[in-house]
Amino acid sequence: MYAIQILALVGAAQALQLPSWLPFGHSKPTDSQASLALPSPESVNRIAVIGAGAGGSSAAFWIAKAKERFPELADVQIDVYEKTDKIGGRSTVVYPYDDLSYEPVEQGASIFVKANKNLWRATEEFGLQKTDFEDEDGSMGVWDGEQFVMITSGGRFGRWWDTAKVLWRYGWNAPTKTQALVTNMINKFLSLYSWEYSSPFHNMTEVINDMEWTPYVSQTTSEFFDLQGVYKLWTREMIEGATRVNYGQDVDKIHALEGLCSLAANGASSVKGGNYQLFEEFVKRSNATVRLNTTVTEISRDDKSSLWTVSSESGSSIFGPSRTSQSYRAIIFAAPFHQANIKLSSPSALLEIPQQPYVNLHVTLLSTTSPQANPEYFGLAGDASVPSMVLTSYENARNGGKEPEFNSLSYHGKIVKKAKEVEEPAPETENVETENQKEEWVVKIFSKVEVGDAWLRNIFGEVGWVNRRVFQAYPVLPPTTSFPPIKLAQGLYYVNAFEPLISTMETETISARNVVQLLLSETYNAGICKHTEGEEGPQEQKEDFIYGWDC
Ligand SMILES: *[C@@H]1O[C@H](CO)[C@@H](O)[C@H](O)[C@H]1NC(C)=O
Ligand SMILES: *[C@@H]1O[C@H](CO)[C@@H](O)[C@H](O)[C@H]1NC(C)=O
Ligand SMILES: *[C@@H]1O[C@H](CO)[C@@H](O)[C@H](O)[C@H]1NC(C)=O
Repeated sequence: MYAIQILALVGAAQALQLPSWLPFGHSKPTDSQASLALPSPESVNRIAVIGAGAGGSSAAFWIAKAKERFPELADVQIDVYEKTDKIGGRSTVVYPYDDLSYEPVEQGASIFVKANKNLWRATEEFGLQKTDFEDEDGSMGVWDGEQFVMITSGGRFGRWWDTAKVLWRYGWNAPTKTQALVTNMINKFLSLYSWEYSSPFHNMTEVINDMEWTPYVSQTTSEFFDLQGVYKLWTREMIEGATRVNYGQDVDKIHALEGLCSLAANGASSVKGGNYQLFEEFVKRSNATVRLNTTVTEISRDDKSSLWTVSSESGSSIFGPSRTSQSYRAIIFAAPFHQANIKLSSPSALLEIPQQPYVNLHVTLLSTTSPQANPEYFGLAGDASVPSMVLTSYENARNGGKEPEFNSLSYHGKIVKKAKEVEEPAPETENVETENQKEEWVVKIFSKVEVGDAWLRNIFGEVGWVNRRVFQAYPVLPPTTSFPPIKLAQGLYYVNAFEPLISTMETETISARNVVQLLLSETYNAGICKHTEGEEGPQEQKEDFIYGWDC
């Protein structure tokens, strides 16, 4: 229903606000100059947001929050540019059999946790329903390509820390120490929601120093845990299971901060019906003008007026793509920079963004009548049970053995497949309806390469619906001490500078908040919350205080 509202909003906005042209009779503006009759800086009170994922949609929302508190921002207008036809970025859902009456399944960013205060709060304030994974039963196994090194039945998210089998294989110290390190990291992380961050950070180094996270980001997960004296096999099997399902990377590749984040599953939840709804709500509540299907081709700055110009192309009607240009006071860039492929020019200082490779993830969603994966594939007896969530470890391959053919494989609930409409019901098949109604399980597989149909048939026997998507799901996250700049030039800010540190939906919203604070203070001498230097946060005592929401 809401999708329709957005479309309506876009339509109206385009009619009223864009430099307009008519497809018939008039010629289109041939160059961007046409709409650029050098407006004076004061007359331009627009901010452009490029990208409508978690970062861009929340940036619009934070500006709206600021407008509630700073009357001088009242006429600031926000334009959100999005090259796809959806809000939500990497957070997308699909429906089994493309049938909207089934529960949708997340293809990408699927969970957030309780420590993710912005998303948690937004879910509540927007009246969205959460699906709680923590209490989901089922079993979890770690497959190394040749055997299960661990199978526990303590649930799928976080409940397996202290089961007897875990203690037997890895001892007591490894899980306990790991849990303490995760808790410590989360406690630091939570300070990002405190009044301390009423002053924005200007670069990633500043926030990393504040958090004392340098040792975490400058070492691989295995180096870090080894130095902490954690049992090596635990790190290479159990922790690696978590880094591979969450980031498709092994413990000897991914930095330790992201390794720890992979283990923070406390309160794992998602929004019923799809997490993208959070991002739609952010945009809706910001009153921003959304330009879907619109690819930004160039952004440039005029040093004299200090205004930015965003040039874009939208749609591809029979008349060809329509090109427009619009002036802005400031721009929030909220997409992976190098993937956006935007020409960027500014005569004055412009900081360079280092190349950032992303992991090319294959997501395979399917439905099957098989209640579990084929035990024989896993070298088990034909009647053995296979965990409903299979994580993987690279440890066997590291030692010269076979590599797992996938990163993770998990069962995600059931659908009751509807009877296909029988065109000419034969008189002798009166029970056709009940016979045709069958339960199917929905399964999600993450892998580095495509898992083909024959492979799926071998694992699941009968496969119903299959949906494949390949996408640049998250950055490659090696240890590092150098990060992208947050402020690329005067009036141009980069939300995804945070991603090489932690890549989640939540951290995009935190980075967006910080960028909005920087932008508003530098451009309008305003902020998200009203306060004077050195002032105590008035509501800081409130236990669930969240900076930006509660001020
Ligand atoms: C959005 O528009 C509505 C209706 O005009 C208005 O009541 C609301 O205050 C606006 N919100 C923001 C953040 O601009
Ligand atoms: C965006 O493009 C898609 C596919 O071409 C189309 O179905 C959709 O209506 C377009 N949406 C908007 C808002 O232009
Ligand atoms: C980061 O910002 C701080 C505070 O503005 C500054 O002192 C420091 O030099 C900056 N560091 C880098 C690497 O730019």
